[in-house]
Amino acid sequence: MPPPRRPQAPGSAGSLQSQQPQRVFEIPACARHHLSPQRRREADRTELETANAAYRIVARIGEGSFGTTYLARIECAKRLSRLQAHEDMPLSPTSVKDQRQLLALMQGSSVVVKEIKTATGDSREAEAAALNSKTLEIHGRTLESMDIVKSIAHIQHCDHPFIARLLDSQYALTTHDTPFEVYEYYAVGDAMRLLRYISVDTEETNSKHREATFLQASSLYLALQVAEALAYLHESGFIHFDLKMDNVFVDEFGDAKLGDFGLAKPCRLGRKMENPYYYWGSRCDPGTFMSVRWVPPEQLDESGGSVDHSADWFGLGALLFNMLYGRLPFDEHKRQALAAAPAGGEDPQLTKRRYLRLWRAAPRPKVEERPKLNQRTKNLLYNLLAFEPAARLGSGGCGEVFARLHALCADLGLRWFDALGSGGGGGPDIDRMRRMLRRGEVPRPYRIKLQQKRA
Ligand SMILES: Nc1ncnc2c1ncn2[C@@H]1O[C@H](COP(=O)(O)OP(=O)(O)O)[C@@H](O)[C@H]1O
Ligand SMILES: [Mg+2]
Repeated sequence: MPPPRRPQAPGSAGSLQSQQPQRVFEIPACARHHLSPQRRREADRTELETANAAYRIVARIGEGSFGTTYLARIECAKRLSRLQAHEDMPLSPTSVKDQRQLLALMQGSSVVVKEIKTATGDSREAEAAALNSKTLEIHGRTLESMDIVKSIAHIQHCDHPFIARLLDSQYALTTHDTPFEVYEYYAVGDAMRLLRYISVDTEETNSKHREATFLQASSLYLALQVAEALAYLHESGFIHFDLKMDNVFVDEFGDAKLGDFGLAKPCRLGRKMENPYYYWGSRCDPGTFMSVRWVPPEQLDESGGSVDHSADWFGLGALLFNMLYGRLPFDEHKRQALAAAPAGGEDPQLTKRRYLRLWRAAPRPKVEERPKLNQRTKNLLYNLLAFEPAARLGSGGCGEVFARLHALCADLGLRWFDALGSGGGGGPDIDRMRRMLRRGEVPRPYRIKLQQKRA
């Protein structure tokens, strides 16, 4: 997949030392929370196998509408027979061979297994229909959507430092098979968890100014990485559609990994597509509507309409807002919309329409005095969270998002990746970005001391 094009940002090459002192956070590895005997019992599976490796399930770590997420360990990676190695070569020299070598190198390491819910085979008819259907419906996820996940996150297609790495997968051939995906494990968990540690700690500091600057620096650091991942994803022809704190994972160095591509759709950069998720706002009850918290207004449009990549830039704005304020933008509109509903409940469409009206009347998110953000940060939030997609920052390409993000970082004396626009062909030098991170040349605002506790 090609790297994204964008103008080179001003600033010197390499990384300048941040003016901020680096803060250290002791964070228990996420797994520790999930290794209690109770959690272990909850995991109803113990082993899984693909053509490439065998995995032992350690614990259940998440239950979503699309399936169950487990922490697992690579028990053994399967060797390549000479014949297989030979057969794989003409197709793609880097495919199965590299994947198995990587899994062999990682033997014994923790991984995350995402088991995908399959259609329940209660009725034979439904099962037969599903089997006949070209796109086997799996609770909203189809074989096509799994292919999308594969192309975004798969080792053969994408190796981006800020995108969760898919190591292996097994896809269903019949409705009885359970499809699953195997990802690299990111020990801090999701971004929400990291932020929780950071905010607890910052509350204890006396200097409000220091607190705000640190929070800004940390949030911008993560937002920049997610923006890099998004730019790459968009240039590769996809929209993520599900940007939120629990879908950004954090590795042991504190770097972000964009994950959960279950709702991603293919869409060429510069094109629009029919809104695939407008029903989120139209078919559901007010309770569900309340959980639609991260989506831009155009996705709540009952008439369907079209959406484009700027939906994800809205998501980035919501993510940054959430990190800085600990809540979602426009929450007060939702509260008001629901409060105005009659006691016995009303048609969810009416609630939603009221919400959109309130939003249109006051399209700027409410920003308080605390944390003390500089005006540029607030403006960035306003522009990313713009009601009209065409007016939204990012609708003109990722270049404008990076220019603003880098200018903001420069304001705060932070220069992380601002010289990376110089890669061949105008794209960022992804390998260089990876090298800089690996060598510790990127002055992270925080350092994480991971408290490991082995099972
Ligand atoms: N690779 C990973 N490393 C660490 N934690 C993960 C990883 N993948 C998922 N998780 C945890 O499991 C949760 C659910 O995973 P996710 O892929 O978002 O599935 P869902 O479709 O259920 O939202 C995440 O919010 C995160 O806390
Ligand atoms: Mg998720």
